[in-house]
Order: sequence, then C-alpha cells, then structure tokens
Amino acid sequence: MANEDRSATTLLPLQPGYSIRHCERKDIDAVTVVEREAFAGKTLYPDFFFAQTLDINPEGFFVAHYDELVVGYVIAALGQGTGKGWIQSLGVVPAHRRRGVGSNLTAHAEKFMVGQGQKESVLTVDPDNDVALRLYRRLGYTQIEMLSGHFGKDGDRLLMGLTLEGSE
Ligand SMILES: CC(C)(COP(=O)(O)OP(=O)(O)OC[C@H]1O[C@@H](n2cnc3c(N)ncnc32)[C@H](O)[C@@H]1OP(=O)(O)O)[C@@H](O)C(=O)NCCC(=O)NCCS
Repeated sequence: MANEDRSATTLLPLQPGYSIRHCERKDIDAVTVVEREAFAGKTLYPDFFFAQTLDINPEGFFVAHYDELVVGYVIAALGQGTGKGWIQSLGVVPAHRRRGVGSNLTAHAEKFMVGQGQKESVLTVDPDNDVALRLYRRLGYTQIEMLSGHFGKDGDRLLMGLTLEGSE
C-alpha cells in the first residue's frame, strides 16, 4: 500500500504550494532549522548529521517546501540485507502541519524503499507521541513490538511496520 496507491482516505493530497524533492546541499541549514522547530524540547540530531546523511544517503533524504521555504524532511535508510527500510526521521514545522506534508514525505520515503527492493517499512516512535502514532496508523503501520529503554533511560520506543506492497 505504498505511496500513490494509497486511497485518498489514508494519503491526503499535499495542499497547493507544497512540493517534495530530494534534499540538496543548499537545503541543509534550513533542515537544521526544521529539526529544531519540529522537535522542540526533544533530543535533536546534531547539525552535522544532516550534511553527513546527504553524503551517505542522498537518495533517501527528502525535503518538503512551500514556495522556497523548507518546511519538513524525511530520511529513509536501508537495513542492510534485512529487506527492511527505516523511516529514520520525519519532521514538519508546526506552522505547516495538517496539510498532508508528513504523510506525503512518508510516502516518498516508502517509494524510495520499494525502488531499493525493500519489503517492509519500519520505524520507531515514542509511545507517548500521539500525533505521530495517529499518522502512522492512518498510513497502515501496525505495532510490532514495544522496545523498553531502546534509546537509553526514558527512551522507550514502539517499533511499527508496514508491508510495502509495491515490492517484488
Ligand atoms: C508527526 C508529523 C510529522 C506530522 O506532520 P503533518 O505534516 O502534520 O502530517 P499530515 O498533515 O500528513 O497529517 C497530520 C494530520 O493532518 C490531517 N490532514 C492532512 N491534510 C489535511 C487537510 N488538507 N485538511 C485537514 N486535515 C488534514 C491528517 O489527516 C492528519 O490527521 P490525523 O493524523 O489526526 O488523522 C508532525 O506533527 C511533526 O513533525 N511532529 C513532531 C516530530 C515528530 O513527532 N516526528 C515523528 C517522529 S517518529
């Protein structure tokens, strides 16, 4: 049920003015701003992580923009030899939420995974992050396992997954 094949009820269209493309070097500073705004009060990736991701995994790194402003990003990474792709990080700035940006970024990440022959998309999410949980459930993700202390003390994570139907 990846990407464009999803029904309109699960994958709402991006609102006019928004689009999604691969991250480019010129976007990196803006992505670090998105990270700070999207994950305010939470543990952040260090700024260099995004430049490094662009070096290592450019095909799995997408940004959403509104006019010229970067308003969200997603990073999809491949689990070596597992057939599983990971949604490593997804963030949208508060002012541009509830317009389909997060869902469509996720769909782009899944399409990338399918193109790389992955069978399943997986992710971990803070079990208290109700907004993200609702988004992932609506997109068809189901709980695989609760991982207690996965990210250290107070770092419980819910492992969720979605079978990528476009995969061979
Ligand atoms: C989780 C997050 C990425 C969602 O981003 P988003 O751009 O708001 O996502 P979407 O717009 O695709 O979907 C969010 C809601 O808006 C609704 N929506 C989308 N387009 C809409 C539209 N045109 N009209 C009305 N509602 C709409 C969706 O139905 C969805 O509602 P629901 O999940 O309550 O059913 C964002 O809230 C965020 O960055 N949170 C902080 C970081 C975070 O938690 N990241 C995930 C970590 S695992």
